[in-house]
Amino acid sequence: MSPATDIVEVRHALGRYPVEISVGGIERLPEFVERLAPGRRVAVITDRNVARVVEHPLKAPVLVVPPGEASKTRRRWADLTDRLFDLGFGRHSVLVAVGGGVVGDLAGFVAATFARGIPVIQVPTSLLAMVDASVGGKTGLNTRHGKNLVGAFHPPSGVLIDPGVLRTLRSGHLRGGLIEAIKHGLVADADYYDWIDHESAALLARDPARLETLVAGSVRIKAGVVSADEREGGVRVVLNAGHTVGHALERWSRFRLPHGDAVGLGLIVEAMVGEHLGGGAGLARDLAARLFRIGLRATLPGPEYDEALLDGMRHDKKALSGEIRMAIPDTPGRLAARGDRWTSTAPRDIVRQALGTARTLLTESGFHTLPPAA
Ligand SMILES: NC(=O)c1ccc[n+]([C@@H]2O[C@H](COP(=O)([O-])OP(=O)(O)OC[C@H]3O[C@@H](n4cnc5c(N)ncnc54)[C@H](O)[C@@H]3O)[C@@H](O)[C@H]2O)c1
Ligand SMILES: [Zn+2]
Repeated sequence: MSPATDIVEVRHALGRYPVEISVGGIERLPEFVERLAPGRRVAVITDRNVARVVEHPLKAPVLVVPPGEASKTRRRWADLTDRLFDLGFGRHSVLVAVGGGVVGDLAGFVAATFARGIPVIQVPTSLLAMVDASVGGKTGLNTRHGKNLVGAFHPPSGVLIDPGVLRTLRSGHLRGGLIEAIKHGLVADADYYDWIDHESAALLARDPARLETLVAGSVRIKAGVVSADEREGGVRVVLNAGHTVGHALERWSRFRLPHGDAVGLGLIVEAMVGEHLGGGAGLARDLAARLFRIGLRATLPGPEYDEALLDGMRHDKKALSGEIRMAIPDTPGRLAARGDRWTSTAPRDIVRQALGTARTLLTESGFHTLPPAA
């Protein structure tokens, strides 16, 4: 192991696993797999884009799926499972997921169920998968009733992250990961929140050392929160900041608005809700400026869609009895340290007001790209 490797240990109900982060670290994937899943037969699951651009020295059969969310299906799960049996894989195997969050969730669920469960090693290659999907042990598939509705908690045996592979990631996908990282800083660590802003130009230019620091910072925050609350009964809900409004925007656009952009807008609106509820003024404007600097240009849909969005927020998984609940950020870094009051009820008229003021703020701040209409 090179001395430059950042190692974060993630604890969960059944044990612990390391997340190792280093530029160039993918070269050591064979040793990593042998150390964490010794003696097992290895199969790699990846998608077609990643297979083309991400090189690794593992000698093992590679099962390739089409890229994109459409691969997170039970059909694809069944097909991968059958292909593994066809290739003679059995209980004494390990899967290595090389790809973005789609590959990680799909391969993780195959591993959770294959021969009643085999280990999986995650090698996330998108920034979103590095800072978010790689920690927490959630795996899952989409159904026609919604996303991630079928799945399992199946923590990996280890996570190997090489930020060098982000060179080839499309800029919209890079931004999605940066927005989740900004969310981590906003809810849990003010210094990290400011560091991201200070380094935004270098991060957008994919400076590998800065990306390594970013991934390590986010993984530490997410690991801390998730270790404290593995199954989402308490503090983990702070990681949903921006997501009550964000999910409503995504659903409204029929998922044409990218998740990260929706969460960015969601953070701004939710911060504005906090201001309307009497929290500190100026957070929404400051957040908007930071998100603008990392390239967010999407703005909110027009006021004629407000009621539809408000209805969408009630359907969020945090909604109890139809009210709108959100993890409202007020002071950077403070949400995760607030005791047991991580989410609040947001009265519908306050959220409506916040959508209005956020829309004006976004226009003043130069956001101009209308989200794709549903
Ligand atoms: N399990 C969790 O805790 C968790 C958390 C957050 C998100 N997710 C899931 O993750 C998924 C989104 O993840 P995502 O944004 O990584 O999507 P993704 O896996 O579709 O990756 C985005 C795109 O980038 C490509 N790509 C990945 N790495 C690349 C690289 N290094 N170079 C070039 N192209 C590359 C992929 O082929 C894909 O086209 C969603 O399905 C979401 O539900 C899961
Ligand atoms: Zn998210």
